Amino acid sequence: MKRVGILGSGKVGCSAALFLLPDVDEIVLYDIVPDLPVGEALDLQNAIEALDLSTEVRGTNDISLLHGLDVVIVTAGFGRTADMNRMDLLNKNLPIIEGIAKEYSGDKNSETVFIMVTNPVDVLTYVFWKKSGIERNRVAGLGGVLDASRLKTILRMEKKIKIRNDSFFVLGEHGDNMIIPRERIRKKYGLSDTELENLREQTVKAAARIIGMKGATVYGPGAAVARMVRAVMSDKGEMMPASVVLDGEYGIRDVCIGVPVRVNRKGFKVVEEELSNEEASMLKKAAERILIVLEQIGYR
Ligand code: 2OP
Repeated sequence: MKRVGILGSGKVGCSAALFLLPDVDEIVLYDIVPDLPVGEALDLQNAIEALDLSTEVRGTNDISLLHGLDVVIVTAGFGRTADMNRMDLLNKNLPIIEGIAKEYSGDKNSETVFIMVTNPVDVLTYVFWKKSGIERNRVAGLGGVLDASRLKTILRMEKKIKIRNDSFFVLGEHGDNMIIPRERIRKKYGLSDTELENLREQTVKAAARIIGMKGATVYGPGAAVARMVRAVMSDKGEMMPASVVLDGEYGIRDVCIGVPVRVNRKGFKVVEEELSNEEASMLKKAAERILIVLEQIGYR
């Protein structure tokens, strides 16, 4: 049985559920808003029947029903408006994630893998890990898979370049300090420095652009986190970028930042890949920024 829990029955959580319908046996949707998860579950159940799928979706306001699952996706919290950056959500979302971490602090011996989506995701993935006491390989934040999808969208729409192999990872912070694979893109597609800087700039701003037009990003994050869940469930050691707790890898310790990981049923294992000097120093700079925020909120 492949069973997934989704904390937060908002647009991203339900979009992830929709993308996962063909791949899992059961989805449990949770929210604090009365009726919302039940309503979303019923709506998704209609979709299941319309597509002759066999998945079962349940909705609940009782978080205690979301234990003992294979994967739990955490999307609970507030989203940002186009004029905000993800860090601006910290004060509102921190207590929500701390409460969820407390709920799972007894899950030290379970095999549940947790994927954080709530922003600022690098900071809140660390907070969840620290507060819950769950081993680091079972906790990751969504970042690079989503950012890479934006980078690929821009290359495809503006340069008619379709990137097939997924070794084009976006690393670092899921935010202003994200790191695109400049040298690989330059070598493979011959983009100039200016084009590469423009590409990075657009990738950083991609979410705000969508939020400005439609109020929220939905399908991108939903599909990206669904991809991470599928990688856990398939247990084939798929490589992808994710925000995980580092313990000396890349010369960085005790902070969450986007790095290459190998994914299997037990979770996420950091892979130390060869980075260019520029990428390595950008990764350290991104980590230092997250560390400063963790200090400001008392997690240091
Ligand atoms: C995004 O970039 C929600 O942070 C997520 O769309």
